[in-house]
Amino acid sequence: MKTILDVRNVSKIYQSAAQALTVLDQVSFSVTAGDTVAITGPSGSGKTTLLGLCAGLDQASNGTVALNDMDLGVLSEDQRAALRNQHVGFIFQNFQLLSTLTALENVMVPLELRGIRNAGEQAMELLDKVGLSARASHYPIQLSGGEQQRVSLARAFSNQPDILFADEPTGNLDTETSEKIVRLIFDLNKAAGTTLIIVTHDLELAAKANRTIKLKGGVIISDSAVNYV
Ligand SMILES: Nc1ncnc2c1ncn2[C@@H]1O[C@H](COP(=O)(O)OP(=O)(O)OP(=O)(O)O)[C@@H](O)[C@H]1O
Ligand SMILES: [Mg+2]
Repeated sequence: MKTILDVRNVSKIYQSAAQALTVLDQVSFSVTAGDTVAITGPSGSGKTTLLGLCAGLDQASNGTVALNDMDLGVLSEDQRAALRNQHVGFIFQNFQLLSTLTALENVMVPLELRGIRNAGEQAMELLDKVGLSARASHYPIQLSGGEQQRVSLARAFSNQPDILFADEPTGNLDTETSEKIVRLIFDLNKAAGTTLIIVTHDLELAAKANRTIKLKGGVIISDSAVNYV
């Protein structure tokens, strides 16, 4: 089975004037293509930091992250951006929609970056999939949290990623909306074999994944795919 993500002895240390803060300490795991993994742990345990490193949004202080057999540490910023654009979808904890663009335009950005000609049409289809075609011309500020989350999801789907990273995709959403979003994410895994890496506090959502990795204080304290002694 193909390994899509390999994290080896990864540490992240933030250096401030006063002190060095170790946010991730020697974290190692690897993920098989097509697998679904939940990452859980208390606030501040390093989940978002780890996701950012895995997705090539940020660089580790030590250790290696390989995505699709590419060592992210040896790539330039432009090469990492290209790799992300080709293989990675990302749903941020705070959605990160561009406030000056409409819902449709937000979904179009990754498609346009890839030089897709009918980006508008494809973006509209994706918005329809998340039930938001009627709100295509609205700006993020005019949308509710759940609607913004769904735009963010449509945008993450737009480049048909091999691997989707989702940071608290159901945080602050009502039960119905969050069920809808979880279904859309797991459908992507079933239909396209997309690997899912989902950070969540929601134990019900975590239980839907094949595997759970627990972080605490920047270290992995349990991994359901590995026997810990
Ligand atoms: N740029 C930064 N500079 C210094 N410290 C940072 C920086 N980014 C994050 N941290 C610290 O790293 C630790 C881990 O942060 P991270 O956002 O990864 O936690 P988390 O597990 O995602 O928490 P939450 O569940 O609250 O989202 C926190 O103590 C945070 O304050
Ligand atoms: Mg976080």
